[in-house]
Amino acid sequence: MPQEVTTHIDPELCNGCGLCLRVCPSQTISLVNGKARVTGDSSLNCGHCAAVCPEGAVTVGSLDPEQSRFDTFSLEQIWLPFGDYDLAGLVRLMASRRSCRNYKDRPVPREMLSDLVKIGLSAPSGTNSQLWSFTVLSSRERVMAMASEVGRVIRDFNRLSEKAWLRGLLRLVGKPELDDYYREYHQSVSRALDEWDNQGVDRLFHGASAAILVGSLPGASCPAEDALLASGQMLLAAQAMGLGTCLVGYAVEVLKRQPALARQLGARPGEKIHAVIALGWPNEKYRRITGRRAPVLRWA
Ligand SMILES: Cc1cc2nc3c(=O)[nH]c(=O)nc-3n(C[C@H](O)[C@H](O)[C@H](O)COP(=O)(O)O)c2cc1C
Ligand code: SF4
Repeated sequence: MPQEVTTHIDPELCNGCGLCLRVCPSQTISLVNGKARVTGDSSLNCGHCAAVCPEGAVTVGSLDPEQSRFDTFSLEQIWLPFGDYDLAGLVRLMASRRSCRNYKDRPVPREMLSDLVKIGLSAPSGTNSQLWSFTVLSSRERVMAMASEVGRVIRDFNRLSEKAWLRGLLRLVGKPELDDYYREYHQSVSRALDEWDNQGVDRLFHGASAAILVGSLPGASCPAEDALLASGQMLLAAQAMGLGTCLVGYAVEVLKRQPALARQLGARPGEKIHAVIALGWPNEKYRRITGRRAPVLRWA
């Protein structure tokens, strides 16, 4: 995905070291008469050149410094060298993140939500397209409105799956999905809908007071991967901020099948939602890290 070149090099500052050429993935820069010069006609606009330059001679116009400034903490704008971090602390943070399904009835400040989105932007994206979107539901009321729309679609689908003749027919023509759904989910979904109707229990968003929908815009080379990588950064950062999170796969499935629901929230045509993150102040506490099952692991 070729992109317009927005790199600028100040020849007065450039010392000709060539470091920017070495890290540039799109061969945008060459050394001409001992100075770096923009000679390519496309650029990933990744900012490697500006990050590596010892003289501060490079700027990349398409990068927005505002996206690296945060409201709830201050970020030292200096690159952290390889290995220069508390690995055990990082892994502890990762292993301590648990899907949170109990939240306090307390709003999440807008600044925290806005910082979380900016943190999501630190993720890599295919061809550096950064064609992701973030839709922030910033109050419990907005989350509830989304939950009831999603719940309505799930209720209809659950009812449809009760038709034994339809499940049988679809299985006969090689489409077993409805029957599989019925066997695996129908009972638990019925129970959850019942609890929602009779006790107001929110089994979808678990009472979260905010949610962020992470999507992709048309043209992204790796839309789902980009959105999910951004989501991963946000889940960890939320944990560090003291917020609990839970991915809501049901909502993603519904939004995939009913793009009109996402459009009601302002999504553009062709925009797709890949992750829905419920978040809020956790009303649960753990004592220890429990680990995972052994994975399929091979050394080839
Ligand atoms: C793609 C995806 C979809 C998920 N959807 C839901 C969901 O709809 N509701 C829910 O309570 N948890 C959901 N989860 C959370 C998983 O159940 C959870 O990650 C898993 O049980 C491991 O627990 P942990 O996140 O606490 O480590 C989802 C997780 C992923 C990765
Ligand atoms: S890294 Fe900076 S100083 Fe070195 S060649 Fe590139 S622009 Fe010039």
